Formats: sequence, structure tokens, C-alpha cells
Amino acid sequence: MQKGAIGIFDSGYGGLTILRDIIKAMPEHDYIYLGDNARTPYGTRSFETVYKFTLQAVRKLFDMGCPLIILACNTASAKALRTIQQNDLPKIAPSNRILGVIRPTVEAIGNVTKSWEIGVMGTAGTIQSQSYDMEIKKLYPRANVYGQACPMFVPIVENGEYDSPGADYFVEKYVNSLLAQSSAIDTVILGCTHYPLLIEKIRGALPDGITVVPQGRLVAESLKDYLRRHPEIEERCLCSGKRFFYTTDSPEKFEASGKIFMGEAIKAEKIVLE
Ligand code: DGL
Repeated sequence: MQKGAIGIFDSGYGGLTILRDIIKAMPEHDYIYLGDNARTPYGTRSFETVYKFTLQAVRKLFDMGCPLIILACNTASAKALRTIQQNDLPKIAPSNRILGVIRPTVEAIGNVTKSWEIGVMGTAGTIQSQSYDMEIKKLYPRANVYGQACPMFVPIVENGEYDSPGADYFVEKYVNSLLAQSSAIDTVILGCTHYPLLIEKIRGALPDGITVVPQGRLVAESLKDYLRRHPEIEERCLCSGKRFFYTTDSPEKFEASGKIFMGEAIKAEKIVLE
């Protein structure tokens, strides 16, 4: 079987916050990043649409030779991952694998919370899907989970406004609304891969003693562990340290913004999903 890069998919730039940590943990692997910037945000879209768009991206990454894809998008992980894994994968590429970002995040919070009162900030789609509630309760039945949809965060980040007074306004609004649900929350999951760009503002708006949990490092560690446990997938991954970036919107714009997310210059190419 031919070897290929690990595919990383997000609706836009957010998945770059995951890729950055994955590269830190496994710099030797090859990666193909695909951002559907032309159709972002996914968070306000229906199950059917997120499923359709995500499946198109998955097919494209498989066509590009990826044996393994990480859906570095909570919305796609919440709304499309299970259906693609169960219904589509056996038909289109039974020996390939697709992983999401919710499970590795949930696994890690057992070591963080003491009060078992857990806040989750995410897109409207992720929060409405109740994926975090279900996954957390499966692992930790005594936990209480409080979801806060933050529909303005992805547009703010995608448009480069994460350091603006507008961002301050919406961070405070969503943090207050989350804390109004429980005064005992001691752990807040950033359940959207775009949110690490707002992490300092979110930390600043929360009272001391609340731990904010971003996902990049957790997903990276979990991927490393997965490949250790699945040598049949690891041996199909190319390891020449190459990275390729594709966007469904303007490559020039992607290169300019992507550089901020990645902390290094990147070259992007346009791709069409259909
Ligand atoms: N980064 C995606 C996530 O983690 C954002 C989804 C969107 O496009 O709204 O949910």
C-alpha cells in the first residue's frame, strides 16, 4: 500500500492550532492541511450540511493519499465524524482511519477538574449537539457539564479581529453567560479549535482558579499514542517532514493569516471541494 501524509481538516484556520502542536510532538511526519475557508463557519450550519462538507473534504484528503485524517474541528467531530466512520469509511476506504478532537480532550479533563463542574465553550453546532456532555458523562458520570455557544468567536478569529475591543466585548459576554450557569465551574474546555487565539482574553475574563483547557497538546499526545498502538497505520504514514496547505478560498489570504496561527511562513494552494 502507498504511503501518504496525515490529513488535518478544519472549516478554516482553527485546525492550524492543532497542527502546530501535532508538528511539535511529531515533526518527522508529513501533513496535508485542508481549510474550507470559503464555507466557514460551520458552527451555524445544519447536521446535513456539516456532514456533506466534511465528507467532501475527507474524500479529497483520501484522494491525496492520506491514510489517516484528523478532523481538527469540533463542529465536524460532533456532527459528522460518527456517521462518516460508521457509514462512509467502510465503503470508500476501509483501511483508512479518521479521528476527531472531542474524545482526546474529554479524556484529559479528569486530571484537571476537582469540582466536576465543567464549562464548555464552542460553536452553536457543537454545543447543540451535546457531544461534550455525552462524552464527559460516559467517562465521568458524576460530572456536570455547562455548554456555552459562542457564535461570534469564529467570525472574529477568521477575520483577524481576535485582538480587538470587539473581541473583548464578546469574550466577556460569553464568559459571564457561562459562569451564570454554575458558580462552581473550575474547568473550561475551549471546544473549538479557533479559540486558542482568544485564550488570553478568555483567561483574563475568568476568575482566578479556573483552568482553561485548549486542545492542541491533548490531540497531539493522543495521536502519538494512537500511532504507537496502530503500527499498521503508522507504517503507511510518510515521514519526510513535509507540510502542504490547501484552502478553498484565497491562497494569499490563507498564507497571510495562516502564518499567524502557525508562527511560521506557509505556502498555500487553492482546492475545490465538491
Ligand atoms: N474550528 C471549528 C471548531 O472547532 C470551527 C467551526 C466553525 O467553522 O464554526 O468547531
